[in-house]
Formats: sequence, structure tokens, C-alpha cells
Amino acid sequence: MEIGIIGAGRIGATLARLLVDVGQRVAISNTRGPASLAALVAELGPRAQTVSVAEAATFGEVVIEAIPFGRYRELPAALLVGKVVVTAANYYPQRDGLIELAGRAQSELVAEHLAGARIVKAFNTIWYQHLQTQGDPAKPIAARRVIPLSGDDPAAKQLVADLIAQLGFGPIDLGSLHDSTRQEPDSPIYNKDLTVAQARALLGG
Ligand SMILES: NC(=O)c1ccc[n+]([C@@H]2O[C@H](COP(=O)([O-])OP(=O)(O)OC[C@H]3O[C@@H](n4cnc5c(N)ncnc54)[C@H](OP(=O)(O)O)[C@@H]3O)[C@@H](O)[C@H]2O)c1
Repeated sequence: MEIGIIGAGRIGATLARLLVDVGQRVAISNTRGPASLAALVAELGPRAQTVSVAEAATFGEVVIEAIPFGRYRELPAALLVGKVVVTAANYYPQRDGLIELAGRAQSELVAEHLAGARIVKAFNTIWYQHLQTQGDPAKPIAARRVIPLSGDDPAAKQLVADLIAQLGFGPIDLGSLHDSTRQEPDSPIYNKDLTVAQARALLGG
């Protein structure tokens, strides 16, 4: 699969590394441009390339956005229509400034901006160093470190759940995009080192 990545910091670069390791092709981007990511793609090898944000948006069927939540309006909405867009962003007011959620999930604001994209919230609950080290495809799903996901498009969620499993983690579908509040900062499963079985018990099923 071809996967564009917007945001090449801790979480974007870690996902790029893991995805090329399982045979996916990635095109990764940041604000400073491809030259700033030359060392990263050299490390990642031939399945990775560094591109502009617009090229990352159009590269494949799936695009991962891993930028600070406060900058979601900078995502190129017109280029992302019809794409499966994975949002890994979290809202931290001290970093992102005050953003009025008005009862909505953080990812619903991203979805509002990216009208026509198939938004799935995922990979936001796990610290990048745990993401780098805790995947284990040899384990049964129930015993793997959990990575929850949410979204309104079942086929998009299935695609992302399959990617999560391919990386050796255990996906749990928490429901709609609105339900993604259940995986936001300060929710019970956020940044907790839980297996799928433990997360299910904590969430009540
Ligand atoms: N760190 C974690 O363990 C972790 C875990 C889960 C989720 N998250 C969430 O994931 C997001 C990224 O976190 P991070 O820790 O990876 O951040 P980070 O290390 O600061 O990296 C942010 C990246 O986003 C890029 N960026 C910023 N604005 C952009 C824009 N408008 N278009 C394209 N690229 C843009 C930056 O590019 P430049 O460097 O060129 O400016 C940089 O590559 C945040 O929302 C965070 O809450 C983080």
C-alpha cells in the first residue's frame, strides 16, 4: 500500500519507520520541505520518499496526519477528498492554544475541515517510543498492546485496523468519530500500557 504522511516528527517518523518495515511504501512530509527529511528517508530505505505536503496528500489511498492539533486547518482539504485520513493528533491547549470544541470530539473538527475525507482517529493514544518498540505480531491480538480507533466510515476503519494489526498491535474499535472522545487525552485508555483484553475490561466489554 502507498501511504502519505503529513508531519514527520516523533509520531510521523515512527509510523514511517514501522510501515516500511512491514513492506508499505511511504511518502513523508513536513513544513520545512523534503530536504529537511533527507537523513530520515536515507535511514528508511527505498520504500520511503520525502515529498511536499501536497504530494503526501495525493500519494496513496491512505494519508496519516501527525501534526499538532492546533494546526489542523493547514491540512490540504481539497487534496484529501475521498482519502482515508488517519488523524493521530491530540489537543493540548498549552501547545495548541484555546480551541472551542463545543461538545465535539477533537477529530470532528479535523473532519469538518477535511470535508469529504474518510477520517479515522488512531495512533494518538500511544507514546511514540512505545509505538516504536511494543508492537509484536507474534502475540495473539488479545495480548497485544492496544491501539484504539474511531470513525464514521466502517471500511476506512477496517483498513486502519488491519494496518494496526500488521504493525503488531491490537486494534479496538471505539465507535463513531464522536466516540473518539474515549481515546482523547485524559480518557482511561490514553497513554496506558494496556493489552486489548485489559482495555476491553476497562471499557466494559
Ligand atoms: N509524541 C508522541 O508520542 C505522540 C503520540 C501520539 C500522538 N501524538 C500527536 O501527534 C501529533 C504530532 O506529535 P509529534 O510529537 O510527532 O510532534 P512533533 O515531533 O513536534 O512533529 C510535528 C511535525 O508536524 C509537522 N507539521 C507541523 N505543522 C504542519 C503542517 N501544517 N503541515 C505539515 N507538517 C506540519 C512538523 O514539521 P516541521 O518540523 O517542518 O515544522 C513536524 O514534522 C500531535 O498532535 C501529537 O499530540 C504525539
